[in-house]
Amino acid sequence: MKILVVGGGGREHAIIKKIKENKIVEQIYALPGNGGIAADAVCVDIAATNIEAIVEFATTNKIDYAIVAPDDPLVLGCVDALNQKGIPSFGPDKAAAIIEGSKVFSKNLMKKYGIPTAEYEVFDDVQKALEYLDTAPIPTVIKADGLALGKGVIIAQTRDEARAAVVSIMQDKQFGKSGDNIVIEEFLTGPEVSVLSFTDGNVVVPMISSMDHKRAGDNDTGLNTGGMGTVAPNPYYTDKIADECMEKIFLPTIRAMKSEGRTFKGCLYFGLMLTPNGPKVIEYNCRFGDPETQVVLPLLESDLLTVMQAVTNETLADTEVKFSDKNACCVIMASKGYPSSYEKGYEITIPNDLLDSTYVAGATLKDGKLLTSGGRVLGVTSVEDTLKDSIESSYKKVENIMFDNRYYRNDIGAKALKAGEAK
Ligand code: AMP
Ligand code: GLY
Repeated sequence: MKILVVGGGGREHAIIKKIKENKIVEQIYALPGNGGIAADAVCVDIAATNIEAIVEFATTNKIDYAIVAPDDPLVLGCVDALNQKGIPSFGPDKAAAIIEGSKVFSKNLMKKYGIPTAEYEVFDDVQKALEYLDTAPIPTVIKADGLALGKGVIIAQTRDEARAAVVSIMQDKQFGKSGDNIVIEEFLTGPEVSVLSFTDGNVVVPMISSMDHKRAGDNDTGLNTGGMGTVAPNPYYTDKIADECMEKIFLPTIRAMKSEGRTFKGCLYFGLMLTPNGPKVIEYNCRFGDPETQVVLPLLESDLLTVMQAVTNETLADTEVKFSDKNACCVIMASKGYPSSYEKGYEITIPNDLLDSTYVAGATLKDGKLLTSGGRVLGVTSVEDTLKDSIESSYKKVENIMFDNRYYRNDIGAKALKAGEAK
């Protein structure tokens, strides 16, 4: 089979490595992929948002199955366009991808179907939003409606910060049209859990839970990033909470999408907060998380391609999705300065025995050398019997992967370890 994977980060590298385990796979193309992915797939320089070129490539190269991983092509209708050409694809169509593409849509969906989430108001007028902030409870959370490269959420600790965020998003158009509408919502507290799930629109199969580490610095300090590391499973996510989430969040969400005529097929990511009043949805993503995928897929014992095809064919109910009971930890190695400005172009050396557990996110190949080209450069994952061992093993690997200006958090998994010990 010839497989095409749209995207070019660590998440896509993890998907590609897993897909390769199936012997039926003869060739994998990554569009655009990256210098590290090039070791596992043929990378073709087509941007993940260039839908027309992706579809043309897929038809010309007689692709048997496509996997669309990032949010932007999904929201732009990449899966619809591939399906129109008869190419079976993994990922939601445009109508369903709106669950991530518009926060106003997802909040209204949750309200309509009674799915627990933070209280909120929607605004399309900057003055009305500012007036509302005069009396809104503080801290408050301001969210741009549309996609904003993961930067569209501002937690405002003061009224002035909240006002500044509203002006920057709605008036100064910091995120362009994504800020035409905003959501202002209640600030929630509690541990966060990421639950990725497979759904064919009829059944929903949660994958193993995970914990992201979004802030740049140790002890959750510094700026928000795309994610500096992950562990799985997440010790806060007990069986009891999982059952509650299935009943109150997961099933109601896929049923709601179906009722709205927006059947969701693909990977639906539930960003949850375990509040004192029960689990609530912080966000939905219409795709695999990054770097959650880099700990979740290494624990998947079933064949990923088979499961994905079952999603496409709507036979997920008859397909086994089994996870190992081990633990995984992924530490992201970034360029110093990320998520603000950073230098790039430094040579990366990865010992051969670590290649299998390294997922490259931001690197290019030049004259046979792998050079840093992004903020998040790569992730290193270890799977071990215990969380403690998986953390130790990942940090040992990190010490042996070299590039100038490398930066990583030293406490990935520390909070999970403490929570696990307290149980
Ligand atoms: P997002 O970019 O949507 O992943 O949100 C970034 C982070 O903001 C989340 O991981 C949460 O830590 C935080 N966040 C979002 N919404 C809320 C909320 N209503 N209350 C507290 N924290 C929130
Ligand atoms: N790690 C968070 C995300 O993928 O959105």
